[in-house]
This record gives sequence, structure tokens and C-alpha cells, in this order.
Amino acid sequence: MRLEDSLEKILIVDFGSQFTQLIARKIRELGIYCEIISHNKITKTHKLENNIKGLILSGGPLNVYQSKKVKFNKKLLFSKIPVLGICFGHQIISKVMGGKVKQSKSREFGLAKVIKINNSLLTKNFFSKKENNVWMSHADEVIKLPKNFKVIAKSNNSKLCIIENSKEKLYGIQFHPEVTHTKRGKIILKNFIFNICKIKKNWSSRDKKSKLIKDVRNKIGNSKVICALSGGVDSSVVAKLLSNAIGKNLTCIFVNTGMLRKNEEKQVVNTFKKRFKINLIYVNAEKQFLSKLKNISDPEKKRKIIGNLFIKIFEKYAKKIKNVKFLAQGTLYPDLIESKSVTGSQTSKIKSHHNVGGLPKKMNLKLIEPLKYLFKDEVRKLGLELNLNKEIISRHPFPGPGLAIRMPGIITKDKINILKEADHYFIKALKDHKLYDRIWQAYAALLPVKTVGVMGDNRTYEYLCLLRAITSEDGMTADFFEFKKSFMQFVSNQIVNNIRGINRVVYDITSKPPSTIELE
Ligand code: XMP
Repeated sequence: MRLEDSLEKILIVDFGSQFTQLIARKIRELGIYCEIISHNKITKTHKLENNIKGLILSGGPLNVYQSKKVKFNKKLLFSKIPVLGICFGHQIISKVMGGKVKQSKSREFGLAKVIKINNSLLTKNFFSKKENNVWMSHADEVIKLPKNFKVIAKSNNSKLCIIENSKEKLYGIQFHPEVTHTKRGKIILKNFIFNICKIKKNWSSRDKKSKLIKDVRNKIGNSKVICALSGGVDSSVVAKLLSNAIGKNLTCIFVNTGMLRKNEEKQVVNTFKKRFKINLIYVNAEKQFLSKLKNISDPEKKRKIIGNLFIKIFEKYAKKIKNVKFLAQGTLYPDLIESKSVTGSQTSKIKSHHNVGGLPKKMNLKLIEPLKYLFKDEVRKLGLELNLNKEIISRHPFPGPGLAIRMPGIITKDKINILKEADHYFIKALKDHKLYDRIWQAYAALLPVKTVGVMGDNRTYEYLCLLRAITSEDGMTADFFEFKKSFMQFVSNQIVNNIRGINRVVYDITSKPPSTIELE
């Protein structure tokens, strides 16, 4: 049994909203353990465990009147467990309990004003002067109140914007309390969890650390474990956690693909081998990767070559360690959720991601994924509890194929060296100007174009360097970061003046979507 199974929790029933993960993160920030389950999974025979103290029904892209598409087990509303419905969840509660939902005459997207009509435990301290600004995103509206329900608040286009049946502990709200644009939205979640579900705090970084250590110790016993270490946040936290739990029974394998950032291999070896005294096998496979990638410019081919070679090398070294039973991976909760489509539709493949995660199936090793119920910010906090250096914890994400996918066109040693330098100057400038932690991910890329420049009265004909810096919550959507002109000038000068091979710097101002974060 997982330790999480014994904790009291909130269960979030996901109907496919883009904000479902935000609800979960907000609840965990409040110190409560919660899990997300797809609405499809709660079938008629599904039994809710005793430790579920509250249900939250998320928003979603469907309409409640498309009853065939919406699978919803109505019994949930009669299970005596408090339920909070958000947006689509609000509409489904209303419909099931005898109200009516229809397409709104005017849709509400973005900021809206909600006006208080009645008092409620759910909205205690939420309104100031009977009003509040909230974030809406709906085209349908509840137009008839279900029997035994009371209206708590209205907005311009949603007269039944907050409703409740306090006796049955059923609550519905049309807006999104989980997004930051809803002022004091967290208070609604707090009221629901602590005052209505009456659940006690059970989820702090310290709790998590000791629970996870106990959990992996129980699972692993005296067996041996291998872990593919990339030097990124997730695999580093897994390695340190396992090393605390099982000491020398852990061996990490770190493959230098040659596509790492400047000095990255030195930092990883110094941190894990020298400082933490973790068994670490360092494999310098730079030449192998370069030779396999020779003359390859197709992004998908590059990714496949890197992924496959990585696995081959990893397997070769893993086989040298005797009696290994487990393979540790840094899978996170969003990886689990994103891999399943809530509405059942096939999401189209944009890129085949490679990370140290997608590892050997045929090795007959059992998987151990201690972080698979955590979000990235929780992993970072756990890392701090484990005494990992801030340098590693606050690191921007770095893709498995590394610099190879930041260099459209063919890959050469020369280009890699130029790119490593450009990236180094950019990241150093971000850190020196205290911008690094305000940005979710930043990097330099080398474009396969040469342009003409003039330096010291001489003509130059060199590569184009592209800089990308984005803000994001989870990498699924992103916007470009707005730098001051003086900073951009500084970075551009640093790069062009110090690196032979680059004579022009451009900044990527596209968001995701339509672009992706990486170039390939
Ligand atoms: P995209 O480019 O898909 O990137 O918008 C989203 C996030 O994923 C990272 N990324 C990868 N991470 N292996 C990884 O481990 C990969 O193959 C890979 N491709 C993209 C990217 O850096 C960004 O944080």
C-alpha cells in the first residue's frame, strides 16, 4: 500500500479542464493531499475510499446537455461527501439535482463581477463590500435552481453563479477560484476544504520527505536500484531521496551525450559523486553521439537517434551492476495526467519527447517512481528538504536531447561549442541581473543561417543566435519574457563580442501555442 493511500484526501474529478491541475496544486499548497481522477474512471461500480473527505468536480470543454458524451456517476452527489462543482462541475450538479442548464445568451470569458446575495460558509471572507472580481470561462449557464438549493451570488451573465444545498453539502460555482485572476479565490477552496470537508492539514515538504523515504525503503528492501541521472531537478531529487533511503544500494548512471550545457558534466559529478558520495558511473559518450548524428538534420530523426543510443549505453552499464531489481525514474504527477486524454480524443503527436525517463522496458526491472504524485514545485521543495543545492533545484528544465534540438540543421562539434558559449553568456547574464528565477525556461539556440555583419570595418559572415526566454506555469502554455532594452543590448554584446562564429542575435517573441518552447 502506498503511504498516500492512508492519508485523508480531496478527490478531484476531472472533466478535461485546462485548470484541473491548478486546482490540485492550490489544494496541496493549502497543506492537503489530493488526487485527480478522470470522470470516465468513476463507473457505477467504483467505490470511493473512506479517506476521501471531499470531491471537486472540475470544469471541462463539454456541455452538460450532450449527455451521451458526458460520463458522470450521479451517485457521487448522494455519497454524503461534500462536493464542490466548478464551472462545468457546477452545471452538472445543477442538472443532476433538477435544475436547468442552457447555452448563455452572452458568454463570459475573462474578468467578471460577482455580487453577493446570501451568506454561505463557502464564501466566508471572500467578498469585499458584497462584490468580488472573478475569472469566468463559460458559454453555458444554469438558468433554473435545483430544488432545495439557495443562490449565494450572481454575475451579469450568470444569475445563479454560486449556489448551495448546505444540508447535503453540495456547492456549485460558475467561475474559477483556482486561477490567480480570481481575487481571493483560494479562500473559497480553503473554506470548502477546512470548514465544509473538515479535513486536517497532512501535506508538508517535511511530511513528504519522511513518508517517501519510508515508502521506498519498504518497497525496495535490500535490493539494488539504478537511476539514470541527467542533472535536472527531477532525476536529481530522485537520486538524493533514494540515496537517503537506501545508501550504497543505489547506483546512478550519468551519460554525457556531448549535448549538455557548458560544464554541466563537471557540476553533476562534483555534486553527486564528490559531495553526496553517491555511487555514480560517469559515461563520456560524446563521440558516439556525434558520430551517430553526423549529417542528420531531421528533428524527429535526431530525437530517435539520441533516445535509442542513450538506452543502449544505459543498458550496457546497468548490466555491469549485479543483482539490480529496480529502475528509478523521475516521473511527475503531470506526466501521468497528461498522458491520458480526458475527453477520449487522440491528442496529435507534436514531438517525440526523450528524457532519461523513457527507459528500457526489456531489462526486466521493476519501476520505482517516488515523485509520481508530486508537482514540479513540490519536487523543488522536497529537494530543499533533502539539502540539494539551490543551483540544481531552481534550474530551468532542460530537454533529454539537449543542445541537439536547439541547433536546427546538421550538428557539428564546432556548432556545439559555439552554442555552449552563447547559452553560457545568456544564462550567466540572467543570473547576474537577478532575472533567472523570474523566467521558467531560457536558452540560446544556433540557427543554420549565416548573415553578413561588420566588425572593425571588416565584413563578417557568421551564424545567427536565437534567444528564447519564457514564462509558464507548467510548460504546456507559455509567453515570452519582456526584457528591458538595456539587458538585451548587454546580452547581445556579450555574445557577439565574445564568441567567434556569431554576428547577430535575435529574440523569439512567439508564445506557446502557436510555437513550442524548443525549436525542434
Ligand atoms: P515543447 O518544446 O514541447 O517543450 O514546448 C515543453 C517542455 O518540455 C521540454 N522538452 C523535453 N523534455 N525530453 C525532455 O525531457 C524531450 O525530448 C523534450 N522536448 C521538450 C522543453 O524543454 C520544455 O520545458
